[in-house]
Amino acid sequence: MRILVTGGAGFIGSEYVRMVLTGTGPRLAPSAVTVLDKLTYSGNLANLDPVRDDPRLRIVVGDVCDPAVVDQAVAGHDVVVHFAAESHVDRSIHSAAPFITTNVLGTQTLLDAALRHGTGRFVHVSTDEVYGSIDSGSWTETWPLAPNSPYAAAKAGSDLLALAYHRTYGMDVVVTRCSNNYGPYQFPEKVIPLFVTNLLDGGNVPLYGDGGNVRDWLHVHDHCVGIALVQDKGRPGEVYHIGGGTELTNRELTARLLTACGADWDRVTPVADRLGHDRRYSLDITKISEELGYAPQVTLERGLAETVTWYRENRAWWEPLKARLGGEGTWRPDVPTR
Ligand SMILES: NC(=O)c1ccc[n+]([C@@H]2O[C@H](COP(=O)([O-])OP(=O)(O)OC[C@H]3O[C@@H](n4cnc5c(N)ncnc54)[C@H](O)[C@@H]3O)[C@@H](O)[C@H]2O)c1
Repeated sequence: MRILVTGGAGFIGSEYVRMVLTGTGPRLAPSAVTVLDKLTYSGNLANLDPVRDDPRLRIVVGDVCDPAVVDQAVAGHDVVVHFAAESHVDRSIHSAAPFITTNVLGTQTLLDAALRHGTGRFVHVSTDEVYGSIDSGSWTETWPLAPNSPYAAAKAGSDLLALAYHRTYGMDVVVTRCSNNYGPYQFPEKVIPLFVTNLLDGGNVPLYGDGGNVRDWLHVHDHCVGIALVQDKGRPGEVYHIGGGTELTNRELTARLLTACGADWDRVTPVADRLGHDRRYSLDITKISEELGYAPQVTLERGLAETVTWYRENRAWWEPLKARLGGEGTWRPDVPTR
């Protein structure tokens, strides 16, 4: 099986590439893995260092919005696993255009190429944020989409396009929607690596609003295992939730990170809430569990401890990235990241 992985130099895409090449997830036994990545500020070839010498890996630096690049990249592959996206909600609130371009237009460009080349399966990786916010209970896959941020709206648009290509052209498309991921190699603007690296450097951490927003935290490896199961056995045209981590308020998460880094609450700086901040996300994972035998394996206790250790031991990976972000790593529109 020849797999094209878009966004394979990012946080989750690179975990997927490392997993399939080292055989540490469900057995997919790829004969070739091609990464197509534009290497934006969050794309980093160092994320692929552990598998760089694998002869099955090929890296193409290119934009998923460029039809010529995409056409060449898609040719000869049996499966497309589509991770590439602009992924940071705060950036989308400041400037939505790159999110619409990459997440919507890029997905359509890939779908067109996959249709032309008769690609066997298109796996579209998406997020629980497309549903908006839920006060109690959990979303099932048939829940109406009600995204609140430009990021989530662009992802919702791309999900609907992917499903439309299944209905209109009979393309073999599957869509996954996952909760919040954490783990090694996550760009240090996202909350867990931002907090951990700030604390390791003796700095403070910014806590949005009252800290009561709830997220379901899933280890990135469990996410990629879920994607591989859907890729292998998911039914065409279906959406599958991937979650089942641990629900925590941001205050609870902050407390755990402070403890893991040996720091106190005096290191927490309350900051104005994010605009349109969703209060709670929660996914029902009955479908993927019953149909595909999915169950998350990494407990939050173990996963967070290992993640903090990873950032402690891999300063050479994140220090240059933090230096580009400036200050204490919180993204600001006036700070260039390239
Ligand atoms: N991080 C999460 O918690 C989470 C949760 C659920 C779903 N997702 C989804 O998973 C996917 C990957 O997220 P991530 O956290 O790894 O993001 P990331 O920002 O770490 O990685 C995105 C990758 O896509 C590449 N990219 C961006 N624009 C591109 C373009 N125009 N052409 C080619 N490559 C481009 C970047 O260079 C980078 O390598 C996204 O689709 C995101 O919506 C993320």
